Amino acid sequence: MITKTSVTELLVKTVWHHLASCTIKVQKCNMSDQYRGKVIVAPMVRVCTLPFRLLTVDYGTDLVYTEETVDYKMLRSIKRQNDVLGTVDFIDKSDGTVFFRTCERERSKVIFQIGTNDAQRALKVGKMVEPYVAGLDVNMGCPKEFSLKGGMGAALLTQPDKIKSILTTLVQGLTIPVTCKIRILDSLPETLELCKLIEECGVAAIGVHGRTRQERPRHPNHNDVIREIAKVLTIPVIANGGSREISRHDDIKKFQQDTGASSVMIARAAMWNCSILRPEGFLPLDTVIEQYLRYCIQYDNPFTYSKYTVQNMLRELQDTPRGKAFLETQTLQEISIIWGLEDYFKTQLAKQNEGRKSLNFEMSEGKTAMPPSADHVKIVEREENGQKVVEMPIQFIRGNFNNADLPKMLLNTHVFRKQLKGPMYSHVIVDKFFSASVTVDGVRYTSTLREKSKRYSEQGAAIVFLHAMGLVSKTYGFVPPQGARKYLTEVTRQIVKEDVMSNEIMRNNDARIENEETDCKKRRLEDDSASVSLHQQESSQETDTSRNNNKSSITDGAS
Ligand SMILES: Cc1cc2nc3c(=O)[nH]c(=O)nc-3n(C[C@H](O)[C@H](O)[C@H](O)COP(=O)(O)O)c2cc1C
Repeated sequence: MITKTSVTELLVKTVWHHLASCTIKVQKCNMSDQYRGKVIVAPMVRVCTLPFRLLTVDYGTDLVYTEETVDYKMLRSIKRQNDVLGTVDFIDKSDGTVFFRTCERERSKVIFQIGTNDAQRALKVGKMVEPYVAGLDVNMGCPKEFSLKGGMGAALLTQPDKIKSILTTLVQGLTIPVTCKIRILDSLPETLELCKLIEECGVAAIGVHGRTRQERPRHPNHNDVIREIAKVLTIPVIANGGSREISRHDDIKKFQQDTGASSVMIARAAMWNCSILRPEGFLPLDTVIEQYLRYCIQYDNPFTYSKYTVQNMLRELQDTPRGKAFLETQTLQEISIIWGLEDYFKTQLAKQNEGRKSLNFEMSEGKTAMPPSADHVKIVEREENGQKVVEMPIQFIRGNFNNADLPKMLLNTHVFRKQLKGPMYSHVIVDKFFSASVTVDGVRYTSTLREKSKRYSEQGAAIVFLHAMGLVSKTYGFVPPQGARKYLTEVTRQIVKEDVMSNEIMRNNDARIENEETDCKKRRLEDDSASVSLHQQESSQETDTSRNNNKSSITDGAS
């Protein structure tokens, strides 16, 4: 029987439901506004860490993406409020590296990008970063083998059910906007179908890189396909892939008009000289690099990342005397000398050390990226074929060590002093990765983490030995002592002096700014000849270039 009360209840329920769905729609609508008519800096591995992101904010970006972080990495991290730097850090438990550092200043602009193939893992990551970022993006465009093998990146493009489950779970479970960044498919109908499916998941916007999974940055971007997508979707479409057509600020608008997209996302053009974001025009590259380095120093950016980014800014200027000196650098301090920031480096370092002391801040900074003592890493001892094996999960991070203080050398010194038997190194290759052991006095020491080169894996094994012996922060320490590289510093200082006198860099910069057209053509040529994939570069960066004596090639856009 229908009573007066049940009718009222029903009415209340209906109105409530209607209001709730209106609220969700309004919320979604507001969330989409964040991506309308915007200039956005794209995710870039190694480049888009906090210093670069802050620089893009200074130059006027509306939003800036982080580099991609794989969900597993995030899930095994610990979060730490870093009162010394005024940041929130996410630290990889297995090797102590800070892989996501953020601060209040960027909160309303930073979009955290994840690599994932699982809705629940993605949601957990979303919840972890939700308080600190303006949005979460799912990478559905990375064509690299490591992504595809893990069912992530572009592998998702052909799995509609997975896409639905990941995106709807995120949209329903998070209070921040959710987006994804895709590549186009082989045909327009397939691409449109995919985009509609993504829109139905309730995402706030969609980023479209106008190349297929097989196409490289040297191939033209399919602006026409982006235009068709923009026509059929109601959510904002963020056009990406246009850096070859963008050589000055006004070109950003042109790219947006050509694609009919709501917003534009730029990667390489921003990496080359991110003052392209300034409506007022370019700043001299030297100024951009100096400002970038100030942030690197202030926020203790890992040396290898800082160097990689500056290399990609310098490009052909790596051939100048200053560029060559830069290539020889092995620490952030050495780079800072080249750009006249030595005093700034020292002041910041002193300030940070003072802060650490007064706050009793135990964890060493991201640059050192090491647990401060063996207590922080689990060392396992076991028996294998009658031999004692000591193992722990630790990685060799080149930027932490001086040439004179490499783990193998520290091990040798110890073995020599104590007159121990060994060392004997051996290694195995698994899936193209290396795992090494070092045997000293009949005990085998090995890291459970694999390395990309044999050399690095041996250094990793040596680190295990040093930890097991309790030599880490007692006798030797992992942090290179200040002033240990005086010789190179002197050489660098001399080169800088000569360089400044000849004003070569400044002349080159001025010429570049005046002659943007020529530069753009050059860039295309470079792009066309770039055959090294980002992933390959990553490996070589970790191996040879991390030694930082080689010139890197210009980066190939990956995803
Ligand atoms: C150094 C570098 C790193 C990149 N890393 C990522 C990444 O982490 N996630 C992603 O979705 N795309 C990544 N990409 C691809 C870019 O975001 C972008 O899609 C591509 O470069 C095309 O845009 P552009 O023409 O403006 O360079 C990377 C590109 C470069 C050059």
